Amino acid sequence: MGPTLASMVNLDLFEEIKRLKNEKNAVILAHYYQEPDIQDIADFVGDSLELARAAQRSQADLILFAGVHFMAEGAKILNPGRKVILPDLRAGCSLSDSCPPDAFARFRAKYPDHWVVSYINCSAAIKAQSDVICTSSNAIKIVEKIPQDRGIIFAPDRNLGAYVAKKTGRDLVLWQGTCIVHETFSERKIIALKVQHPDAQLIAHPECEPSLLERAEVIGSTSALLAHVISSPIQKFIVATEEGILHQMRKKAPGKILIPAPPNQNCACNECPFMKLNTLEKVYQALRDEAPELTLSDDLREKALKPLQRMLDWSV
Ligand code: 13P
Ligand code: SF4
Repeated sequence: MGPTLASMVNLDLFEEIKRLKNEKNAVILAHYYQEPDIQDIADFVGDSLELARAAQRSQADLILFAGVHFMAEGAKILNPGRKVILPDLRAGCSLSDSCPPDAFARFRAKYPDHWVVSYINCSAAIKAQSDVICTSSNAIKIVEKIPQDRGIIFAPDRNLGAYVAKKTGRDLVLWQGTCIVHETFSERKIIALKVQHPDAQLIAHPECEPSLLERAEVIGSTSALLAHVISSPIQKFIVATEEGILHQMRKKAPGKILIPAPPNQNCACNECPFMKLNTLEKVYQALRDEAPELTLSDDLREKALKPLQRMLDWSV
C-alpha cells in the first residue's frame, strides 16, 4: 500500500510520476482540456485525433490516458495487449452519454441503407454500430469520402453534424446530442466582448451552437485553434472552447491576448467537469497502483476497431 492522499502533501508528485513512468515503461497521453499540471507532466498532449494516433504508435507497457472514458477506450481498442489506465474512471462525457446503444440501434434501424459516421466522443458500443469514426479535425474529410449516393447518419453531436453538413453540402441525419461545455457559451456576452474588443478574433470549436459558429471567424479542433493562435498575426482572441486549451496557447504563443468566451451563467461552465475529475494526485495514484484499468470484451473491441481503424486509414 502506497502513501494515502493526506501523506501525499510531502511528495514531489512531478518527480514521483517521472520515476513511476520510467520504472513501469509507461506513457502519459493528455488531452488539451486537462489541468495544466497534467499537461506539463504528459509525454504527449493533443486533440482527439492526435491522441488516437499516439495511442496507436505507443510501445509502452502501460498507457495512462489523462482524458475522458471514451478516449481511454479508444486507446484500449487500438492496443488490446497493453494495459490502459485512466486517473478517474468516472470521467465521462455528456455527448457520449447522450447516445445510449439501444436507442441508437433503434434510430439506425430506420435508415438501413445509410452510412453511420460517429464522432469519436461516443462509447465503444456506439463505435461498434458505426461504419466510420471521425474527430472534429477530420469530420469534413471523412464525410466527403462517403459515396454521394449514400445517405449518412451522423452521431452523437448535432452541432458538429450541422457544421459538417453545411461545409460538405451533404444531407446528414443527426442524432441530437450536445456537449454541456460548448453549448454553454453566451452569444449575448460574446457580442458585448466584441464591441469592447473590436480587434479580437472569435475562434470556436465546432461543438458550439450553430448561431455562435455563424459569428466565429475561425472554426477548428483544439489543435487547429492552437495552431491558428500561434501562426496568426492577430494579437487578441476570444476563445470559444474548454478553457484547458488556454494553457498551451499561453505557453506556445506568449504575448497574445486570450479572452475565454464567457458562459451564460456566472459559473465555471467553460470547464469540462468530466475532464477536470482527473488531478495530478490521481495520475500519481493510478500509475502507482496501475488502476483503475480500462477493460473491454474482445467481441466489442473487435467491432469497435473496424470503424476506428477506417478513420485512421482515411485520414493519413
Ligand atoms: P478535439 O480534441 O478533437 O478538438 O475535441 C474536443 C473535445 O471536446 C474532446 O472531448
Ligand atoms: Fe465531452 Fe464536452 Fe467534456 Fe469534450 S468538453 S469531454 S465533448 S463533455
